[in-house]
Amino acid sequence: MSEDIYTDYLIIGSGVAGLRAAIEMSKSGNVLVVTKDLPTESSTEYAQGGIAVALSDEDEIGIHYEDTIKAGDGLCNEEAVKVLVSEGPERIIELINWGVEFDREGTKLSFTLEGAHSRKRILHAHGDSTGKEIERVLINKVSTIDSVKKASFTMAIDLIVDEHRCYGAFLLKDKEIIRCFAKATFLATGGAGQVYSRTTNPRVITGDGMAMAFRAFAHLKDMEFVQFHPTALYKKEAPQFLLSEAMRGEGAILRNIHGEAFMKNYHPLGDLAPRDVVSRAIISEMVRTNTSFVYLDLTHLDENFLKKRFPQIYRTCLNFNINIAQQMIPVSPAAHYIMGGVETNIDGETSIEGLFAAGEVACTGVHGANRLASNSLLEGLVFGYRAAKGAIKYVEGFESFKFKKDFPMLGKLEILDLTEMNIIKEQFREIMWNRVGVIRCAESLNIAKSFIQPLYERFSSSLFLDPFLVELKNMITVGFLITESALARKNSVGAHYRTDYKNKSGNWKNHTVIKRKNNDIQFISKC
Ligand code: FAD
Ligand code: SIN
Repeated sequence: MSEDIYTDYLIIGSGVAGLRAAIEMSKSGNVLVVTKDLPTESSTEYAQGGIAVALSDEDEIGIHYEDTIKAGDGLCNEEAVKVLVSEGPERIIELINWGVEFDREGTKLSFTLEGAHSRKRILHAHGDSTGKEIERVLINKVSTIDSVKKASFTMAIDLIVDEHRCYGAFLLKDKEIIRCFAKATFLATGGAGQVYSRTTNPRVITGDGMAMAFRAFAHLKDMEFVQFHPTALYKKEAPQFLLSEAMRGEGAILRNIHGEAFMKNYHPLGDLAPRDVVSRAIISEMVRTNTSFVYLDLTHLDENFLKKRFPQIYRTCLNFNINIAQQMIPVSPAAHYIMGGVETNIDGETSIEGLFAAGEVACTGVHGANRLASNSLLEGLVFGYRAAKGAIKYVEGFESFKFKKDFPMLGKLEILDLTEMNIIKEQFREIMWNRVGVIRCAESLNIAKSFIQPLYERFSSSLFLDPFLVELKNMITVGFLITESALARKNSVGAHYRTDYKNKSGNWKNHTVIKRKNNDIQFISKC
């Protein structure tokens, strides 16, 4: 064990939520931002389409509110939505002042359209590299602040919690464990897309924050709501690269393998219907035509326009021998975003004292059962800022703060065969995709549970010093929580669709709230 570290604020994760929080917290004390890979490696870095904000002449905050509520399918926390849409413009203007260069038409900001938005309200940068531009500016900004220290390739493996209060986290660096004590601890670890074999998420997104919070007895909410993006590249030996929804916003059309445009048969909004509707329509067309993909067609659009508007996508597809101006792109859905997570209020407070969370790891309820496209970068900014304020208030509320240092070590140290574990990991991710994916039912979910639960039980009290095994343990925990929550929700709402309960029925308006009880799950609330 290495020497202990002390800081006022510990932030775990360096995407949009963690970095925005660091900027705010630095005004009140010393901040340490730990990140398990390179600082840029995050979903934020790969975000393409843009960031939604009601700033255009044709838009209003109230209309952004209505669209978000509608997409959430009856389960949004209205207070959180109000905060998101009304505080969003200020956070975006701040970003522009810090140097984010959103695309413009002349001197005016350029807004595009995405699914289920009734106005053009998506700001974008360098065409399709919005997240990279935001991450660049936030990292630069943080680097100019003396009171913020960054530690990369430093992985949080568990929270230090005693009697429902968080005192920091156990960190893993170069196979050594370091205890980091903090007055307030902030989870900004992003989502959990890697629990699925088909995902748009980068490999660092393994649900660590959710798993750590669960082990620490925090409340998690709405874990069954996973958003599947309709269009990820489907090609052997190619990554499941995202084909931004903004492409459909600019006129791209989904076609089945016979070349038929099919979305109007499923929804009046056609290709720009909500994501869950489009993903299910694609699956249904794939089944009907007995294929594993459909096409995204942009061949009717001008090549120069496509090169300029989607430079990264154009280049990436060309690397895999697809000229998007001349050939249709084979696509199929992939896990993209999780609406559920560590339950917080609108000030980032979790059910554990001293533990705050924001961004994709958190569940304020702002997205309800389905997230409106391009609302999550905004969520990271707005709630990263607010949760930082919440943490500052908590820390400044102490007249004097005593770090509590007597903690037992974590679990039993285990060394496992990595080849065998890699096979288990891939089997697990396949099962999640096939049985807990876009379309679910009791039978498929129970098959998944019977595979995952023994693994969960096997790993839950083990301590690993290999980041791969720590991630595997976390992924299995989160997979177990998603499966159990999906089994408990006996209805279909938003992104959660069950063939055995196809409608909203019974207590569908209830939220699923869970916590750990011994080694099992306790439902605080379910429908
Ligand atoms: P992330 O940006 O994912 O950052 C998480 C951070 O936590 C990373 O630094 C990671 O390394 C670190 N971390 C994780 N576990 C640990 C650990 N145990 N210890 C230490 N560090 C850890 N949303 C939009 O609004 N618009 C878009 O156009 C858009 N496009 C997207 C495209 C893609 C390909 C993807 C994957 C997502 C997209 N999204 C988009 C969703 C959006 O990018 C994410 O929801 C958002 O960026 C999440 O931000 P975050 O700060 O919560 O987490
Ligand atoms: C996309 O560009 O399609 C992703 C947008 C999002 O997930 O919000």
